[in-house]
Amino acid sequence: MAIEERDPHTGYLTTGHEWNGITELNTPVPRIVYLFLISAVLFSLVYWVLMPTWPLGTTFTKGLLGFDQGAAVSQSLKEAAVDRATWAKRIEKESYAQVQGDPYLMETVRTTGRVLFGDNCAPCHGREGRGGKGFPSLTANRWLWGGSPEALAETIRVGVNSAHPDRRVSQMPAFGRDGMLERPDMENVLTYVLSLSDMATSAASPGKIAAGKALFADNCASCHGADARGKTDAGAPDLTDAVWLYGGDANSIYTTLWGGRQGHMPTWESRLSPVDRKILVLYLIDLRKDGP
Ligand code: HEC
Ligand code: HEC
Repeated sequence: MAIEERDPHTGYLTTGHEWNGITELNTPVPRIVYLFLISAVLFSLVYWVLMPTWPLGTTFTKGLLGFDQGAAVSQSLKEAAVDRATWAKRIEKESYAQVQGDPYLMETVRTTGRVLFGDNCAPCHGREGRGGKGFPSLTANRWLWGGSPEALAETIRVGVNSAHPDRRVSQMPAFGRDGMLERPDMENVLTYVLSLSDMATSAASPGKIAAGKALFADNCASCHGADARGKTDAGAPDLTDAVWLYGGDANSIYTTLWGGRQGHMPTWESRLSPVDRKILVLYLIDLRKDGP
């Protein structure tokens, strides 16, 4: 047992331990630490009494306040389900115009539609519905199959070249590969198609354009229309505008004419409920309104 000593600098006693002339001070734990510990213990005692805390095999101590997070969550889930059932029924029953005229329903269309679109359609049509090569933009207000609510609903229901028995059939023939047009005729019709949207071409080769125009009337007008503005019953696009599904430069158009094109859009009849499909139609119409 070492003899207690008092440190001359701080006035504290030392513990009596000494290492090579260095002695250890016997400093007490500060009072604030004890206060903190005591209040923490008191708090936990109060918490045990008021709140659910201790597990007791199959149950637990419920606490005097009767607070239950599980019940709170299932209550709010129940309320959300009732809420959804209400607006879903209204969207299902009311006409497109009625839903569009109701700001509350359109708000749910925007939030629910965005999720449905992101989960099911965005991989092909892009998150914002702007499409990409081979996948049409759904915001450009140019429609292969028509942009009325009924036409959109039908396209989504049956798909294009899909497995659905009522599917829409899109067949751009392979004029080159299948030998339907000779190479010079391919060049002429290509020049004519280019001239429809590009003024520079129309000035350059009037002879080729005239020949191409005649070929177009014989080979293309049945699907694309005599004026080349497209036909929604064949899913044939307008060739006079600046919107292109597969590209509007000479190379892309030549590739289209040579090998044909058959876009594939899945059927959603068995995968999405009628309400979900109606929400998507309304969402697309809304998207188009805000689109460029
Ligand atoms: C696997 C890719 C793919 C998915 C997924 C897909 N689409 Fe399509 N969609 C296409 C293609 C390709 C076309 C163009 C078909 C054609 O060439 O006529 C198309 C066409 C459309 C059209 C017609 C556009 C027009 O101009 O008439 C609509 C509307 C449409 N899709 C909506 C949807 C919606 C809504 C979803 C999600 C439920 C969806 N698509 C999911 C590939 C897809
Ligand atoms: C049997 C109907 C049919 C005939 C005939 C036809 N087309 Fe098409 N064409 C289509 C369809 C349908 C598409 C869209 C293909 C798709 O969506 O995958 C298309 C697409 C195109 C495209 C691509 C447009 C784009 O936006 O990228 C061009 C260009 C085109 N056709 C030119 C012609 C020319 C030129 C002829 C005549 C030599 C012709 N087509 C004859 C049905 C036809």
